[in-house]
Amino acid sequence: MPLVSPREMILRAQAGGYAAPAFNAENMEMAQAVMQAAEEMRAPVILQTTSSTLRYGGAGLYAAIAGALASDAAIPAALHLDHGESFALAVRAVRAGYTSVMIDGSRLAFADNVALTRGVAEMAAAVGLPAEGELGKVGGKEDDAESSGPALTDPDEAAEFARETGVFSLAIGIGTSHGVYKGKPALDMERISAVARKISNPLVLHGTSGVPDADVRECIRRGICKVNYATELRIAFTDGVRAALAEHPDAFDPKVYLKEGRRRVYEAAKAVIAVCGAEGKA
Ligand code: 13P
Repeated sequence: MPLVSPREMILRAQAGGYAAPAFNAENMEMAQAVMQAAEEMRAPVILQTTSSTLRYGGAGLYAAIAGALASDAAIPAALHLDHGESFALAVRAVRAGYTSVMIDGSRLAFADNVALTRGVAEMAAAVGLPAEGELGKVGGKEDDAESSGPALTDPDEAAEFARETGVFSLAIGIGTSHGVYKGKPALDMERISAVARKISNPLVLHGTSGVPDADVRECIRRGICKVNYATELRIAFTDGVRAALAEHPDAFDPKVYLKEGRRRVYEAAKAVIAVCGAEGKA
């Protein structure tokens, strides 16, 4: 089927107590791997690319890859701009065929984040698509920008933010970081419940790679209904390519080594879908 808006799949996940799995795909092979895993597990799926990935390959190229894969699949698949850095890029993504956009104003002062997010939410709504905002910070590298460290979302501010922006879903800071954790992440689970008591907007967990599965499930139990994974897939892909090149040092056909990267991303995506509780929900 064609790419769909993720609105329905996220609302169904919220109502059903599971999470829509969202995977950052950097290339065709990673997107193929995610789609194969989702299709085999009968799971709804969100493919996403960050602003820097769009600068690398162009929105039209990723939209074409995701669109072709979705058309061949019998499960609903959405294409989302992750960490959109500007209004202009969000518009470009929508015009290219993305079915959802995030605008990340979390580094701005509250009022500026509200103004930027409201503009993107209105633009997306005008063409029937949902927008994701962020309040509080995820630590580590947020796409190209280095964050000073996790800043936790204030539940009252979240209520004001949701009201003022009209945003569909909200990424919240509860102590996760993008990238590789040094040690076990300390998560403020109670904060998810506190935010969920204040607003009914779907809540999004960023920086999920490296968070123990049991903790991810607890986040979902408390109200997270979209879960983002990037680093684990990047590592799986790169490890696979490295292993294949070590085994075939004379290989020069990219298919020889990309195939092993793809296989490992497929395995990683299946594990994520299971943790999210999304198997059989398509
Ligand atoms: P990880 O790289 O930690 O999985 O974070 C992914 C993410 O939140 C993308 O926005």
